[in-house]
Amino acid sequence: MMDWTDRHCRVFHRRLSLRARLYTEMVTTGAVIHGPRERLLGFSAEEQPVAVQLGGSEPADLAEAAKIAAEFGYVEINLNVGCPSDRVQDGRFGACLMREPGLVARCVAAMKRAVDVPVTVKCRIGVDEQDTGPALDALADAVVAEGVDALIVHARKAWLQGLSPKENRDVPPLDYVRVYRLKQRLPDLPIAINGGIATLDEAEAHLRHVDGVMLGRAAYQNPGLLLDVDRRLFSETGPPRQARAVAESLIPYIEAHVAAGGKVSNVTRHMLGLFQGMPGARAYRRHLATHAAKPDAGAQVLREALSFVRENAARAA
Ligand SMILES: Cc1cc2nc3c(=O)[nH]c(=O)nc-3n(C[C@H](O)[C@H](O)[C@H](O)COP(=O)(O)O)c2cc1C
Repeated sequence: MMDWTDRHCRVFHRRLSLRARLYTEMVTTGAVIHGPRERLLGFSAEEQPVAVQLGGSEPADLAEAAKIAAEFGYVEINLNVGCPSDRVQDGRFGACLMREPGLVARCVAAMKRAVDVPVTVKCRIGVDEQDTGPALDALADAVVAEGVDALIVHARKAWLQGLSPKENRDVPPLDYVRVYRLKQRLPDLPIAINGGIATLDEAEAHLRHVDGVMLGRAAYQNPGLLLDVDRRLFSETGPPRQARAVAESLIPYIEAHVAAGGKVSNVTRHMLGLFQGMPGARAYRRHLATHAAKPDAGAQVLREALSFVRENAARAA
């Protein structure tokens, strides 16, 4: 998620769930080809499995960017056909590509030729006045014909005129049934559903209809949710992970990051919601928000913040 997630966030989330697939925020082909690659694409092995999401609409550029990303070790290359921001529309990529299934298919074909790892597409169910019946079918059929490996569908339209990107994540109504119908029509295509999914109960309910569930805001704002993912969604056995143990496990990571010139808050900003619903969560959050960005802050700030959280206290319902 642009401006929210980064490699530190992924290290944190990976410690909450070993099995969930993590996605980068969208990186444009121009940035990948011409920009500071290590800063944009670099990640550590412990984050795996990680998919990179590319933004673009030039098949040759996407092929080149996909190849570069695959060399970095990403296990999946995902194409963004869902972002509604103006900047993206000017570049003729993101959600406006819902209107150009033929072009998206050529992009997928070029990426598939360039890399061995799976190539997937994240899309909406339609844009603007499109009828979501034919619009989503046309997009899906076009990319299936080129061998797309999976589709992730954000189950609402994007309105490209008149709504901000933020409104486009909330205002157009969710239509999960439209995504289930796509799965019924294309049973061989792996399909993941996204949009407004806030709990693992909801995720389990969706998994009765589709193959995967993508969590965006809920995973970021309430990361403790991920602690149970391996057991509930991947049938792993073993004791449940504990939020405090995960936070403590990041102390050496933060120390190394600070020693390399980084700030404590680069890591802890992703951890503010970890204890949501537990006694002391507010003091934990406030302590990190107040102290972790200070230039002389060390990992001790996280230890102090953790001291406010009542260990083993039950999560409030
Ligand atoms: C701050 C922010 C940045 C986002 N950036 C991206 C992005 O880079 N690529 C993408 O496919 N979706 C992006 N999204 C959309 C989410 O991936 C997701 O589709 C949307 O928020 C709906 O799912 P949710 O209700 O689980 O959050 C972003 C969402 C937010 C809130």
